[in-house]
Amino acid sequence: MEKILLIDDDEGLLHFLSRFFLRKGFDVTALANARTAIDAISRENFDLVMLDYKMPELNGLDALDEIKKIDAKTPVILMTAYGTTDLTIEAMKRGAYDYLVKPFDQMDLTRIVGEALAVNRQMKDVVGFPVADPPPPSFSKTKGTLQIIGNSRKMQEIYKLIGQIAEKDVSIFITGESGTGKELVAKAIYHHSRRKEKPFIAVNCAAIPEALFESELFGHERGAFTGAERTVIGKMERCDRGTLFLDEITEMSLPLQAKLLRAIQEKEIERVGGSGTISVDVRILAATNKDIEKEVEAGRFRQDLYWRLKVISLHIPPLRERAQDIPLLVDYFLDRFCTEYNLAQCFIKDSALKKLSAYSWPGNVRELENCVRRAVLLSAGNVIAEKDLMIPEAEEEKRLSDLSREQLLNRLREKLENIVPDILRLSDQDIHANIIELVEETLIHAALRECGDNQVQAAKMLGISRNTLRHRLKKQQDRQTE
Ligand SMILES: Nc1ncnc2c1ncn2[C@@H]1O[C@H](COP(=O)(O)OP(=O)(O)OP(=O)(O)O)[C@@H](O)[C@H]1O
Ligand SMILES: [Mg+2]
Repeated sequence: MEKILLIDDDEGLLHFLSRFFLRKGFDVTALANARTAIDAISRENFDLVMLDYKMPELNGLDALDEIKKIDAKTPVILMTAYGTTDLTIEAMKRGAYDYLVKPFDQMDLTRIVGEALAVNRQMKDVVGFPVADPPPPSFSKTKGTLQIIGNSRKMQEIYKLIGQIAEKDVSIFITGESGTGKELVAKAIYHHSRRKEKPFIAVNCAAIPEALFESELFGHERGAFTGAERTVIGKMERCDRGTLFLDEITEMSLPLQAKLLRAIQEKEIERVGGSGTISVDVRILAATNKDIEKEVEAGRFRQDLYWRLKVISLHIPPLRERAQDIPLLVDYFLDRFCTEYNLAQCFIKDSALKKLSAYSWPGNVRELENCVRRAVLLSAGNVIAEKDLMIPEAEEEKRLSDLSREQLLNRLREKLENIVPDILRLSDQDIHANIIELVEETLIHAALRECGDNQVQAAKMLGISRNTLRHRLKKQQDRQTE
C-alpha cells in the first residue's frame, strides 16, 4: 500500500484530503505541523508528500529543503494559495515535484498525484543485475526489487557494459525488439549511476500527442496558448541533474528533434511561451525498437541527434537468440507471481518448460512474463503443466521436431551466423581446424548421449565408422591431457 503524508495547518483541507486518499486505498498520515512531519519523514518512508506552502513556524520552501535533505527521492507536491510563477520556479529548483494552487479540483489532484506516484515507483524500484566476469553462481540474489535475469553470454556482455558505462555521465542509446527489457536496462543504468539520488523520469514519446509534446518536454507558461491556465514545468526541467529516459524516441517529430538537440547541446531549455532560457543538466537515455540506422537513412530521424545520443549504444538481443535464459526467467517469474498473488510456491513440469524453451517469443520477455503470470493464475494446484500454457497453436506446430529439413537447416544457419563473429574473435590462428574440431566434438558427444554411450549406435547415427568415432574420441582425449 502506498503511503502519503499530508502536511497542512488547515484542518478542513487536511480532512478532505485524508478522506480522498483513504477512499482510494492509500495509507494516509495527516499532520498539521511541519516540524512533526519532518520528524515523521526521518523515521518512516513515504511514497508522496503533499506540503502546504503557508504554515506558521516554517514555510513550505524551508520545509521542502529539510525534507529533501532527509529523503531526496520522495516526490513532494507543494500546495499553495499564492500561485506565483516565482514561487513555483523556486520550489521546482529546490526539488519539488509539482504544485497545486488552492482551491484545486479533483481532476488536477488525481492527475498530478498519479504522475508523482508513478515517478516515485520508477525511482524506487531498484533494478539489480548480476555482476559479469565472472558471474557468481547465485547471482539472482543480487540486491534490488527488480532483477535483470539471464546468464547467456549475450546478457553477460550487457551486464558488463552496464557496469562500465553506468557511472560515466554520457548519453546511451538502447535498441532491441519490443519486450526485450530496454526500460529495465535504462533503470538499471540509472540506479548504478552517479545520478541515482536525483530524479529518473521516463517519457514514452509514442504516447504523447504531437501538439502537447513540446510543452510536455519543455513546459509552458501560463497563457502560452488557449487552455494553458497554469505554468507547467516540463519533464526536462523537472529532471534537472537527473536522468531522462526517452522511450520510443523515433516517434518524435523532426521539429521537436531539432529542439531536443538544441537543448542537449546548449544545456538549456525554453518553456513554451516563455521569454528566457532555463539551464538544465540532464543525462539522456534513449530507446527504440525500430532499426534506428534505417530511420536515419530514411530521413525520419536526425543524424546529428542520433550521434549525440549514441555516445554508447547498447543492443538487447531478442529472447529467441538466448533461449538458454528461458528456464531462469521462468523461475524468476514463478517466484515473483506466487509472492504477488499470495500463492504457495509453484513449480513447472519439465515438459512444460521444454515447450516454453522451444517457442520463439516474438513478444520477447514481456510475452514470457505474461504467459507465466497466466499459467500461475490458471493452474490448479501448484504445478504448471503443458496445458496451462497458452502459446499460440500456429507456433506450436513449428516446434523443433516438426520443422522441415529446409527450415531446420535455415535455423541452424541463422544460429551459426550469430555465433561466428564471436568465434572469429576467439582465436586468431587455425580458425578453420578449430571450428571443425569443435563441431565434431559436439556432434560426437551429443550422439553418444542420445545412444546411452553405445559407440556402435552413435557411429551409425552420425554416418561414420566405429573406428573413425574411436579415433576422434582418442584425439579429443589427447588434446585435453596436453
Ligand atoms: N532480462 C530480464 N529479466 C527480468 N525481467 C525482464 C527482463 N527483460 C525484460 N523483463 C521484463 O519484461 C517486461 C518488458 O520489459 P521492458 O518494458 O523493459 O521492455 P522494452 O524493451 O522496454 O519493451 P518495449 O519496446 O515494448 O517498450 C518488463 O516487465 C520487464 O521487467
Ligand atoms: Mg519500453
